[in-house]
Amino acid sequence: MHELLAQLKRTALAELESATSPGELEGIRVKTLGKKGALTQILRGLGQVPEGERPAIGALANELKSAFEVVFARCEKELKKHELAARLDREWVDITLPGRPRPSGGVHPVTRAFGEIIAIFTAMGFPPASGPEVESDWHNFEALNIPPDHPAREMHDTFYLPPGPGGGKRLLRTHTSPVQIRVMLERKPPLRVIAPGRVFRCDSDLTHTPMFHQVEGFMVDEGVNFGQLKGVLEVFLTRFFERSLPVRFRPSFFPFTEPSAEVDMGCLFCEGSGCRICKRTGWLEVLGCGMIHPAVLANVGIDRERYSGFAFGMGADRLAMLKYGITDLRAMFDNDVRFLGRQA
Ligand code: PHE
Repeated sequence: MHELLAQLKRTALAELESATSPGELEGIRVKTLGKKGALTQILRGLGQVPEGERPAIGALANELKSAFEVVFARCEKELKKHELAARLDREWVDITLPGRPRPSGGVHPVTRAFGEIIAIFTAMGFPPASGPEVESDWHNFEALNIPPDHPAREMHDTFYLPPGPGGGKRLLRTHTSPVQIRVMLERKPPLRVIAPGRVFRCDSDLTHTPMFHQVEGFMVDEGVNFGQLKGVLEVFLTRFFERSLPVRFRPSFFPFTEPSAEVDMGCLFCEGSGCRICKRTGWLEVLGCGMIHPAVLANVGIDRERYSGFAFGMGADRLAMLKYGITDLRAMFDNDVRFLGRQA
């Protein structure tokens, strides 16, 4: 039995020394000193040993245990140290790397443009007004001098809706001009108003979305003339783009204005020398406008002999893209937080 114990001690201590992980050490402990371990097995034979020899064997067994524990503790400490070093190596972080700030959202460029446009026009005496997005055919077209079957309707790819409760024709407004009609019906001149809002056209490609944003503006009073329209728009464009750029008025056609014009502004990007954004013309088209057609004034019961007015409409998405340098219209609708967080 002496020999068995001495042998167990040798092998167990040697195994501890060559273990490579704390888990392995524990396995050796269970196998050697556990309830069903090698030591217990050996001591089972104690009954056969002459009584006089038993204390010596007991002492030998205790000596084995304490030697085992000393080596176990030393090996465990070392292996844990190695394990920690390996983990520190593996889980190394470079604390000099820049942090990753939490994404922060911001005001959508169109909302921002609306805010700036409203502020500029309010300061010029044109406070904002609004109207419904589901509109009657009369407000969106007929009152604006676009009768049914008039070819001008083809300028607008309209989303028609099922008739309303009263049976009237309904649609999603194709422009903000019906707000002119609503305001003129509700109030008396002198009138100065802008109407920012969403409009809808059945059109979708790289440069068109079925929903987009316009800002309408108009003024009705005695003696309102085209020169005032020009002045108001020039001031607006200078303030909005924070630069003084040439502005030109090109004859155009809208059924609800006469005369009508399209407004171009010198290209913000090449200042007139011609680039991709202005299609090498040096000009960017930014607005439609004109003097309110007398037939429109008559439709809303305004004395067309006494009063005259001007009106203009602009695409807010386009203005926002030009001002903040956004080149892809689709980015406006992706809701990518990186885009929303960007403040030009
Ligand atoms: N409503 C016109 C459009 O959507 C723009 C416009 C408004 C033109 C007012 C003239 C006057 O194209």
